[in-house]
Amino acid sequence: MARSSLQLNSKWIPKVEESLATQQLTQRTIAERLEISRSSVSKFINCKPVALNTFIRLCQELNLDWNGASQPEREWNDSIESFRFKQDDFKSNPGGQISPDEIVGRDRLIEQLWDRLRQQSFIFSGERRIGKSSTLKKMTLEAPEDMLPIYRDLEGIRSPIEFVEVIWQDTETYLREAGKAQRVREFVSELIGSHFTGYRFPEITAPHWKTLLTKTIEDLVTLQSKQIVFIWDEIPHLLGNFSDEAAMETLDILRSLRQTYPDIRMVFSGSIGLHHIIKNLQKAGYSNDPTNDMYPVDGQPLAQEDAIQLTINLLRGEDVTIFNFQETATEIALAVDCIPFYIHHLVNQLKDYSGEINQEIIMNIVDESLRNPLNLWKMEHYRERIDNYYNDIQKPYALEILDILSINPPTPFQRIWQYLKSEPHTQDKETARSVLRLLMKDYYLIQEDNLSGSTYTFRYQLVQKYWRISRGL
Ligand SMILES: Nc1ncnc2c1ncn2[C@@H]1O[C@H](COP(=O)(O)OP(=O)(O)OP(=O)(O)O)[C@@H](O)[C@H]1O
Ligand SMILES: [Mg+2]
Repeated sequence: MARSSLQLNSKWIPKVEESLATQQLTQRTIAERLEISRSSVSKFINCKPVALNTFIRLCQELNLDWNGASQPEREWNDSIESFRFKQDDFKSNPGGQISPDEIVGRDRLIEQLWDRLRQQSFIFSGERRIGKSSTLKKMTLEAPEDMLPIYRDLEGIRSPIEFVEVIWQDTETYLREAGKAQRVREFVSELIGSHFTGYRFPEITAPHWKTLLTKTIEDLVTLQSKQIVFIWDEIPHLLGNFSDEAAMETLDILRSLRQTYPDIRMVFSGSIGLHHIIKNLQKAGYSNDPTNDMYPVDGQPLAQEDAIQLTINLLRGEDVTIFNFQETATEIALAVDCIPFYIHHLVNQLKDYSGEINQEIIMNIVDESLRNPLNLWKMEHYRERIDNYYNDIQKPYALEILDILSINPPTPFQRIWQYLKSEPHTQDKETARSVLRLLMKDYYLIQEDNLSGSTYTFRYQLVQKYWRISRGL
């Protein structure tokens, strides 16, 4: 069985304390930085079991080797029995960290992704909150023997040297058992003129980030024999934080590293489409196609039966009184297009409902949640994305098209065009077509062939409903 939680080996307490002190971290600051609860940090420090991914992230933050810092397997096995995950412990936890055992219905996808990685690197995109990060974290924690996945959320990284520093820190963590990574340390020692033993790159290294990146990869490739898989979540955010020049150089060097080192694979993922970032770089003169060797994988909602299963688990875990679990769970799953994030939300709201739950109640709660000005279901990004990533010419087309489709059944292009051309800022037919393509790339729309020809419609009825409500249509 895969390990779903770990506890600190008490011999490592002094190391943890030392690392907290040298990095001037408190339990509160580390909890905030990792977006985990303070009680998880406290459990960790007191050698109580914490979720496996939390344990690894805490160790990474503290520059500790998580493998060494955890209890040996046998001891752990004795203590874990009482903490083993139980089916009826499922709790609704929208947007929170959940353990790999609570991630439902991604096993087949994960198998396919490992198969893909045996061939090539891939880009994992998909609508917001469809479950990309959860899938990638589960992969990391339950990797096959021949694979060494290294997961990193890159959202807060602001410069290339910071990026290289975290890659290097991650690799050092994984290389502890194989021996120290020498090339990077030797190179930094030369730069600073004395023996480098720290875990943060001195400022002087900043202009040398490309050399340091290459040396990090060389160390990693030399010191261990598995297929190394860098799983970089929120890479579009990272590139967006960089200057255009640094973003172009980063994309180019990553591509060249993939080509030079066949033992390295990369997974790019994130909540903004990489195509927006690359398009902006093209405007600044970039002409390369830096990901043309990576396979595009489209993240999907859960299959209906898995969505129903997740809903049943959550309803049972939350002790919601239901007359017919299968029927109610089906209604809940379908009401939110089988997207697990919204299933968590809906169950979370239903658990406080005292009456009998039927389809009407479910739909009312969905409507109320979409209307809620507190943005409870975090859907504002559907509107914000248009403002942030569509240019001034595209914006009126995008808004108009989404407005039209939010109140119409699947609609053919000619009909959409009739509407558009009657408005002052949407008079160009080819722009209409290209914006439709962009809206499909950004997961708002799909194009379907049916009896009345080719039609456009919202990909998710939940998003359609949100759009209609939020635009007052
Ligand atoms: N397979 C699953 N089983 C159970 N719950 C899930 C599953 N996938 C996702 N969730 C729930 O949905 C939430 C959002 O998922 P996740 O963060 O993986 O989405 P994402 O696609 O990475 O989102 P973003 O685009 O914002 O980065 C999780 O915190 C979890 O509560
Ligand atoms: Mg994510």
